Amino acid sequence: MKVGIPKELQAGEQRVGATPKTVKRLQKQGFEVFIEKDAGQRANFANHLYEEAGATIIPTSKELYQQADIILKVQAVTDEEVELMHKGQVSLSYLNPAQNQALLQKLANKGVNAIAMDAIPRISRAQKMDVLSSMANIAGYRAVIEAANLFGRFLNGQITAAGKVDPAKVLVIGAGVAGLAAIGAARSLGAIVRAFDTRMEVAEQIESMGASFLTVDIEEDGSTASGYSKVMSKAFIEAEMALFKEQAKEVDIIITTAQIPGRKAPELILDYHVAAMKPGSVIVDLAASTGGNCVLTKNGEVYQTDNGVYIVGKLDQLPAQASQLYGNNLCHLLDDMGKAENFKIDMEDDVVKRAMVTYDGAINWPPEPLPVSPQKPQEEIIETAIIAPPSEEALSRKRTARQFITLGIIGLLLYLLAMVAPSDFMQHLTVFVLSVFIGWQVIWNVSHSLHTPLMAVTNAISGIIIIGGLLQTNNNLSDPMTILAFIAILVASINIVGGFVVTHRMLKMFRK
Ligand code: NAI
Repeated sequence: MKVGIPKELQAGEQRVGATPKTVKRLQKQGFEVFIEKDAGQRANFANHLYEEAGATIIPTSKELYQQADIILKVQAVTDEEVELMHKGQVSLSYLNPAQNQALLQKLANKGVNAIAMDAIPRISRAQKMDVLSSMANIAGYRAVIEAANLFGRFLNGQITAAGKVDPAKVLVIGAGVAGLAAIGAARSLGAIVRAFDTRMEVAEQIESMGASFLTVDIEEDGSTASGYSKVMSKAFIEAEMALFKEQAKEVDIIITTAQIPGRKAPELILDYHVAAMKPGSVIVDLAASTGGNCVLTKNGEVYQTDNGVYIVGKLDQLPAQASQLYGNNLCHLLDDMGKAENFKIDMEDDVVKRAMVTYDGAINWPPEPLPVSPQKPQEEIIETAIIAPPSEEALSRKRTARQFITLGIIGLLLYLLAMVAPSDFMQHLTVFVLSVFIGWQVIWNVSHSLHTPLMAVTNAISGIIIIGGLLQTNNNLSDPMTILAFIAILVASINIVGGFVVTHRMLKMFRK
């Protein structure tokens, strides 16, 4: 079977349906691969890389469409491309079937069996083919990078010799795939992140990623059986906007990702929100192509408003990586369809029957709904309860008992040693044990995250110095040994106390 990869025609599209790596994978699946000349150029994959991977370069799209049994594309085919297609040809691409009835009709009339990659159901089995997730993940990450680039400051907080820098505050609206990726990227750069979503079930995911979940005072949950959000009531949207008005004054970056499938994106950031933001702040609108979550977004443009807020309606696609992930998604689907040898359009299959939007000359849309987030079965919940870990109280009792036994054994060993060892040895051992004990206590009180070897060693040494100093002091204040011991105790104490002060300042910096 022959797979053909045409050049993308849409001006802003930099991705391509296959990369040299996925070409190799397609061949392993038994396909012969044909690729149109310069198809990978915008994603930085030169023709010779495809040739080296084993693909044949075809000079024109006309020849490519004539030869291929399966077409791998990113964007929906254009009317001209449909003209070049033939009956029984299979095509895999984005199609946006809910909004593209006319195109579906043309494909059906031509007898093309078209798979809409954006209609792959969001079920666990199909995650590996889910282009919406793989591309949203990239968009979420890239939104933070673009925002950080435009925002002329650090995202993390710092205490430097030159002064303190506060961390940037980022608000993520919509915590689906893109929103969660944005939260992860912003947190990893050190920003304080807050997030809002209409679906209460995402609260835990948001918090587990280190962001705080914002709520409104209205009891309405956007979750639906489909896994997506429903359209919220007017009262909820109004409360949401009031919340964003407060946030807009405070935050430096807003990343919006809110979508309702098959509809225009909800308008959540209005002109007065933008007006409330500080000059130099950034809004990245990931819903720009479906109308935008911000009313001032210009799709495909990045510009600065009169009050100095950047609004980003266009993102770099990271085309090489995006093509690789997109290509992998396509390969996974072809794997499921039987590869070259047993290639079959199985209209009983949950994934194929929903994504195959035109089949055998007819339109196959809309599909039967399929929930994306199945309820957790009751048995699983019971099982979790049975294997719950022991309580903290029981653990602490066990720990104390163990400590007493250890101390008892050490005491006994020391007593036995004292019976046989010379008295000098016992004196040195006592100093040593006391030093270790004080050093241990000093280190124990330092936050774990700051247990650097340097901190631990200097505090242990300071502890030993203090013990040594105390043992050398006597009542004669003019004795040089006492003066020296006093200086040693003073310097070691300054080291320990100073260490604690610095530790607390550093910890305070990371606290919200
Ligand atoms: P999406 O791109 O359609 O929407 C993004 C987010 O916007 C959603 O979390 C939605 O709740 C939120 N939103 C809608 N209206 C809003 C409003 N007025 N204010 C604030 N937020 C609003 O969704 P996406 O990212 O494509 O996925 C949605 C869900 O689908 C995921 O969270 C997940 O539960 C599920 N999913 C399941 C997969 C699977 O294989 N099982 C794969 C991918 C997603």
